[in-house]
Amino acid sequence: MVSVSLSTSKPTTARADALILGIRSDDDRDVFAPSLEAVGFTGEKGQVVTFPGGDLARARVVVAVAMPSEPTAEELRRAAGEGVRAALKASATTVAVALHPAGVHEVGAIAEGVELGAYKYDVYKSSNRSSGRGKGKAKAKKDVTLISAVVLSPFARQSTATRAVDRAATVAGAVNAARNWTNTPPGDLRPPAFADAITDYAGDKVKVTVWDEKRMAKENCGGILGVGAGSDAPPRLVCLTYDPPGANGHLALVGKGITFDSGGLSIKPGASMQTMKLDMAGAAAVVAATVAIAELELPVKITAFACIAENMPSGTATRPGDVLKMRSGATVEVLNTDAEGRLVLGDGLALAVEAKPDHIVDVATLTGACVVALGDRTAGILGNDDDFRDVVFAASKTSGEAMWPLPIVEEMKEKVNSSNVADLRQHNPKPAGGTLFAAAFLREFVGDIPWAHLDIAGPSFNDDSARGYTPKGGTGVGVRTLVQIATELAETR
Ligand code: BES
Ligand code: ZN
Ligand code: ZN
Repeated sequence: MVSVSLSTSKPTTARADALILGIRSDDDRDVFAPSLEAVGFTGEKGQVVTFPGGDLARARVVVAVAMPSEPTAEELRRAAGEGVRAALKASATTVAVALHPAGVHEVGAIAEGVELGAYKYDVYKSSNRSSGRGKGKAKAKKDVTLISAVVLSPFARQSTATRAVDRAATVAGAVNAARNWTNTPPGDLRPPAFADAITDYAGDKVKVTVWDEKRMAKENCGGILGVGAGSDAPPRLVCLTYDPPGANGHLALVGKGITFDSGGLSIKPGASMQTMKLDMAGAAAVVAATVAIAELELPVKITAFACIAENMPSGTATRPGDVLKMRSGATVEVLNTDAEGRLVLGDGLALAVEAKPDHIVDVATLTGACVVALGDRTAGILGNDDDFRDVVFAASKTSGEAMWPLPIVEEMKEKVNSSNVADLRQHNPKPAGGTLFAAAFLREFVGDIPWAHLDIAGPSFNDDSARGYTPKGGTGVGVRTLVQIATELAETR
């Protein structure tokens, strides 16, 4: 974890390996103008250049980042992340960040960008082994880790700025935990191992209950059991509760935790399976957010369910045509075992309803169709209540996570209810509106409780190169919006 502090120092005198300097206009170039010109800095959006600090700054290296004249919180987060990644490439382990925050909230955004941008997943890199006798000829390039950052700001001495930096550390720590779980190879994070990892992570403020497959059978969780039936690693349901004294309202969270999605008997083609360790990112987000909300001591009750199974083909796997009896009592005709997320979530949502919350949010890497609709950086928001959907949409904007509302068009209701043999049909034979059909299916399990569904199939995993504060691989998307929703519910009641 990076330690982030605050200082009112001037950029030129700040003590650090690298100085990350936001350049908004020609005026900002100041003593650095000649160096910036020498390295071809034009100030064009997104530009990042690196040059030696020399006599100009105490820092060994200067990383200049082009900034708009009045950067938003999200622009500051991205610039901080971009700056940190460039500083790490220049082997800096300490940075001073001078990005002109307009207020205390922006100081928090910069701290978040630093901690998110510094993330690396190198657990399985041989170069990471301290005592490894390298087999390869060439010594692997030494990867540096960011140790500390000082954010330079005129507000540095205000206690609200310190609080914003503390909050950023908690939230970014949670996002990075979700990223770690998402990046873990799926053979090393099968359902029992994931449930154990969650239990270890939860801390003292959150109560954890784990249901194994026997308990789930007694509790009629036919959806989760049906999806997990093909795997020799049995499914798990993990329930987290945070119930602070004097809580304002109760939010239930449900996460899709498919530790690997092969598609089951409706098996995926090889190429589509390559990244399917990501399919537990919703559960990771829900768990990490719950722990962050508890660490921040937000006055909101949280009940969270991680619905964990491995979707595998085998002689014991659920078949297309099978009927599952869900926790809610509804029967479901399974027609495509690759549409497994809605089956585990159906049970999780039913359990959430039983906890009688005021609101429910589920987070799931649910449909490829959502990636087609919104691209791979934006999550879909669907639900049964326009007002609550607007709360979630607004929270996503504040947190800087790209999301966009999609409707559950009316014809999906009858399609979900069109099974010949069971109460509900799991899969629409037509691909048209796949994200909307999936949400209409989930809606069958939430009753009248205001509910929002976040389809994070696109933004949960970055298979492009790193950008801003977003690394390659697991992104931890959802955590920041969930913490923001809880923050707003705590304030508005
Ligand atoms: N886990 C996938 C969805 C997914 C696709 C996540 C791409 C991330 C990237 C989900 O379980 C799935 O396979 N959905 C099917 C549904 C279809 C069979 C109705 C899909 O999207 O093709
Ligand atoms: Zn699937
Ligand atoms: Zn899936």
